[in-house]
Amino acid sequence: METDKNAVAERVSRLMETVPKDRGQLLPALWRVFEEYQRIGPEMIEAVSNAMNIPYAEVFGVASFYALFDNAAGHRPIYVCTDVLCALKGSEDLLAVGEDAAQGAAVALKESPCLGHCDGAPAMFDGHRTVRNATRASLMAMIRGESHA
Ligand code: FES
Repeated sequence: METDKNAVAERVSRLMETVPKDRGQLLPALWRVFEEYQRIGPEMIEAVSNAMNIPYAEVFGVASFYALFDNAAGHRPIYVCTDVLCALKGSEDLLAVGEDAAQGAAVALKESPCLGHCDGAPAMFDGHRTVRNATRASLMAMIRGESHA
């Protein structure tokens, strides 16, 4: 995978062709890039900023807020929303229950700020899919990488 700034810009620009140029699509856009590179670096932030015509600081802010820079040791991240509504619906319990299973599956369970699915709390997201009304069973399925989680 290229790391040259121009090559990154070109590839990210192609990825962004399918993403509406809308601030509300910034998080999905960043995930597209994350999927492609398994990380988000400054050159990706700049490329997304240019492709979506959104200031660098704003793109950086969203990427930082959702801890997209953190891909510890190649572990597949699963974000469990622990913001207020999801916490009230048991997301902390989900995290506690999933910890052991995650360690054995090379998954990094992470707390996340609001994922924008408050009406389906608790919500979780693995970079590909969002699961609303998450349960222990759906979390375990996501940890195992099952597509129907
Ligand atoms: S509070 Fe969890 S998705 Fe909004």
